[in-house]
Amino acid sequence: MNVIIVVNEKGGVGKTTLATHIAAGLAIKGFRTLMLDADAQGHATMSLGLTKEPGLYNLLVREAEFEDVLRVPPLENYAGGQTVKGSLYVLPSNVETRVIPMVISDAELLKDRLEELEKDMDVVVIDTSPTPSMLHASIYIAANHIVYPTECEFLSLEGLAETVKHTEAMNADRKTQGRPGITIMGVQPTLYRQNTNAHDYGLSILVKKFKRFTWPALPQRTIWVERSWANQTLFAYAPDHEATMEAWALVERVQKGLVA
Ligand SMILES: Nc1ncnc2c1ncn2[C@@H]1O[C@H](COP(=O)(O)OP(=O)(O)OP(=O)(O)O)[C@@H](O)[C@H]1O
Ligand SMILES: [Mg+2]
Repeated sequence: MNVIIVVNEKGGVGKTTLATHIAAGLAIKGFRTLMLDADAQGHATMSLGLTKEPGLYNLLVREAEFEDVLRVPPLENYAGGQTVKGSLYVLPSNVETRVIPMVISDAELLKDRLEELEKDMDVVVIDTSPTPSMLHASIYIAANHIVYPTECEFLSLEGLAETVKHTEAMNADRKTQGRPGITIMGVQPTLYRQNTNAHDYGLSILVKKFKRFTWPALPQRTIWVERSWANQTLFAYAPDHEATMEAWALVERVQKGLVA
């Protein structure tokens, strides 16, 4: 099972936007997919047309069964009229997610619980909060792939540098336990303002550091904001829009990095 985390310790760089589109896109394409909302803001949950609730909290703290905490998002929110060849489930979040690291001391619990889904899911996509916490450590332990969204701006790149440091530290720990490290799928530049020297400069820094892992930038487009008012993915809201083609290309980049 492929467990992908979408992470950057800077807020507002497109983590939730990317995570929900990767999950919805993979489900439409034929993968049995779980969108795991690990942010107390519950934005991934809401973006897919569901209500915030303590799904992750109940799974980890109250030892709930998956069948009691997984939710099925409405098709009109994530696929619109498109055929869904796979399936999409959501493990919702709400403010109680914040309490999890204070009551759970077993950092491997999330990994252990996700292993229960090995036969039923192909991909788990985890949306994370911008504020690092002990929950991030559990998420890193459970994951095997990482996608870093970032704006091409100084503070986002600074947040990214901190995040990469934490990933490297987690990978060093895993090595000592004989576990393979998390692989970087890609660094996704988001909210890219084309033809501005400031963003071109930021992009050049990314390419220098991450080389082939730097994915083609997703331009800043109003349609991304419009669709968020409708709590719909672009696949559902505007299937033929240029931005939707860019979102599909993102899903295909992720698909290429999946392990069979
Ligand atoms: N390519 C884009 N063009 C225009 N707006 C975008 C684009 N990508 C994301 N946005 C908008 O940027 C805002 C921040 O995105 P998002 O909520 O995904 O960031 P985040 O990293 O999850 O934030 P947080 O750190 O608070 O969890 C949202 O309003 C979203 O609709
Ligand atoms: Mg978010």
